[in-house]
Amino acid sequence: MTRTLRTQVAVIGAGPAGLLLSQLLAGAGIETVVIDRKDRAYIEGRIRAGVLEQGTVDALSEAGVGDRLRREGLVHDGFDLCFDGDRHRIDLRALTGKSVTVYGQTEVTKDLFQRRFAQAQQFFLGVSDTRPEGLKDARPRVHFTHEGRGITVEADFIAGCDGFHGPARQSIPPEVLRTFERVYPFGWLGIMVEKPPVSHELIYANHARGFALASMRSQTRSRYYLQCGVQENIADWPDERFWEELSLRLGPDTAASLQTGASFEKSIAPLRSFVAEPMRYGNLFLAGDAAHIVPPTGAKGLNLAVADVQLLSRALIAHYRDNNDHYIDTYSQTVLSRVWKVERFSWQLSTLMHQFPDNSPFEQRMQRAEFDYIAGSEAAARSIAENYVGLPLE
Ligand code: FAD
Ligand code: DHB
Repeated sequence: MTRTLRTQVAVIGAGPAGLLLSQLLAGAGIETVVIDRKDRAYIEGRIRAGVLEQGTVDALSEAGVGDRLRREGLVHDGFDLCFDGDRHRIDLRALTGKSVTVYGQTEVTKDLFQRRFAQAQQFFLGVSDTRPEGLKDARPRVHFTHEGRGITVEADFIAGCDGFHGPARQSIPPEVLRTFERVYPFGWLGIMVEKPPVSHELIYANHARGFALASMRSQTRSRYYLQCGVQENIADWPDERFWEELSLRLGPDTAASLQTGASFEKSIAPLRSFVAEPMRYGNLFLAGDAAHIVPPTGAKGLNLAVADVQLLSRALIAHYRDNNDHYIDTYSQTVLSRVWKVERFSWQLSTLMHQFPDNSPFEQRMQRAEFDYIAGSEAAARSIAENYVGLPLE
């Protein structure tokens, strides 16, 4: 027999977007039920983002999950762009007065889960057959199966925080939904290793052999990425080959201080730009990767999800607390205007920093000219920096 529950906001997805939304709403006394098809350990272990904008750090702090982040996060005042062996530091602090914080998405989700469980949040994890329904009704519903039993959550609103492959966006009628997409002809091969990072700041390198990124999670744990073919096989990338290739792409000076070791995570991620419009349909709101994907080059995906949820929580709080639907009515438009700017930046940095198999010699010269412009012009460097540290919420 199906069990039916009532709540104010049904949140599909317990990634950073869904968890933070339920946390922010709980802070305003708004009740949520959070549903995810994976279990807590799986979600907490999913290695993804690593760089948080100041606005993201502030949002997490305001949500009451900033203590460990402030203690353990590494504040970075700049990063390096390298092009064919030439290196230019983007001085974030000097150019914008702001910095970014290196703190893994795994840690963000752990902090949020811990807090939600401590506050007795109602979760349904490990569910299957999630199906949103009645999006234009006053009481939309989410149906799913949990531990073999059919459950229906009836709510005032549904928040689709269920990532790129989730059912929320797909439940918007195709004649209403418009999507925009660019798929890049390569992926990122990422590894994690228990060794100190090669440099105290991040290095993004465009080398004739392909893009490389040197990042980190802590003073003793490094994260490295290499541009690779989308169809490539992880099995063809034993650690030795990865280190060899990374050394070549980072160049001899940097490679001299590279500490290698056995990787404990290795995966290939495709690169995509994607936006779905609108981000609201009836009483369904989309937030985070459910509505948009950016290629990872600008470190924007998680930050964008957090910004969406800040705006969505503001809209829902105004509805319940002040009986004011202005922010609900303008949610899609407000969020999309920011999303497109961040899409533009992620596309620009991806286009600048990768080797494109079909690039003509003209396009190669354009890349070089853009790098030289950034290296030689404070205005160009500031434009990169202000996007990297994060654009204002609206
Ligand atoms: P997700 O984290 O995808 O969460 C969605 C949740 O919905 C998942 O838990 C999923 O299990 C659940 N779900 C899906 N389908 C269903 C269903 N049918 N029923 C119920 N639940 C469902 N971003 C940055 O900001 N900085 C970075 O440095 C960065 N680096 C990255 C590196 C890599 C290799 C990758 C892959 C991504 C990176 N990102 C980065 C992007 C970032 O990880 C995502 O943008 C972020 O996870 C989005 O959060 P979200 O909550 O919207 O979606
Ligand atoms: C990381 C990922 C990114 O996409 C990026 O731009 C910077 C850092 C990371 O996983 O550390």
